[in-house]
Amino acid sequence: MQQFIRKHLLAFKAYEPGLSIEEIQAKYNLGKIIKLASNENPLGTSPCVIQVLKNYLPYAFRYPREGNVALKKELAKFLSVPEANIVIGNGSDEIIDLLIRLLVEPGENSILTFRPCFSIYKTQARVHKATLKQVPLNKDFSFNLDELLNQIDATTRLIFITNPDNPSGYAVEKQVLQDFAQELPPGCFLVIDEAYIDFADPLEHYSFIQEFSAYPQVIFLRTFSKLFGLAGLRLGYAVLNEDLADYFWRIRLPFSVNILAEKAGLAALQDTFFYQETRRVVLEGRKFLSTKLQELGCEVFPSQANFILFKPPIEAKDVFDYLLKKGLIIRRLTSYGLPDFLRVSVGTEEENKIFLTYLQEILGDR
Ligand SMILES: Cc1ncc(COP(=O)(O)O)c(C=O)c1O
Repeated sequence: MQQFIRKHLLAFKAYEPGLSIEEIQAKYNLGKIIKLASNENPLGTSPCVIQVLKNYLPYAFRYPREGNVALKKELAKFLSVPEANIVIGNGSDEIIDLLIRLLVEPGENSILTFRPCFSIYKTQARVHKATLKQVPLNKDFSFNLDELLNQIDATTRLIFITNPDNPSGYAVEKQVLQDFAQELPPGCFLVIDEAYIDFADPLEHYSFIQEFSAYPQVIFLRTFSKLFGLAGLRLGYAVLNEDLADYFWRIRLPFSVNILAEKAGLAALQDTFFYQETRRVVLEGRKFLSTKLQELGCEVFPSQANFILFKPPIEAKDVFDYLLKKGLIIRRLTSYGLPDFLRVSVGTEEENKIFLTYLQEILGDR
């Protein structure tokens, strides 16, 4: 069959998920598993969202309304931006894919981002035959924006910057990105992927989404997967120039956001208590974990996200394997080219303490 597959797709490898919670339970004969690997919401799913999902389950037989009109309206109120400047997708992953489809001419245009970066920028660039150029992050994972600017040429159509960044948690203040955006040549668009922006502190120093109209070449990308706890339902959105938004809706598959995801998104926006509490738990947990990880001899990188990047004083693989056997999953970063580092999502107070206890067990007696 290989002869029929498009040539540029032949070398693709399937996404390699880690072991599932059930597989780990069976392999190590464990009961409870703690997962601090995918930067999900430590508080789980909002009880209000669960109730709404139950109420709407009988409507699963209906198609969703094309264009997610209700959610677009609520998001516009929530963000204080006009509806015409909002697009919605099946996770921000889908929006990344569609922005490349929309803007990047295969073989002609290129995409620019940092290395390491969120994997979807790379895979979707390859799928759509776009040349991908990457500028290395500085050693401390800060952004080399001067070099990023240097690398822009006539082919550059899209730039991806993740702020706060994944997997480091590093973030730049908005003024830095505003200055960068002012330098963009015509036809070059900057996507600021703000998947983790809700955990930046103070938020107003880091995002200028509300000033979007002064920056028509900037696309602000956000998700319901983190602060709102809807990772499994797949819901993301972006704020962007209204002409781009118009074309986005023309090419998005009409029903890519399912009816339950849209209802859940609407409910999540109303549940102020849940998302404020999520932010509180993450900010407090982040501070606690950073301090304790340092006390245990780890090199810890300052984070404005809901996870922490650290380098343990022994082999990262040994730490990862030890935790896994105990039933606690964190993230190895080999696929990011960082085999000596680990990333842990901020969990509940109890989960954070258990993580540190296990870590102490393996690091403590050195
Ligand atoms: C930087 C970054 N962007 C986008 C996403 C994707 O988010 P979504 O769940 O909305 O597809 C993630 C997910 O972890 C991420 O880390």
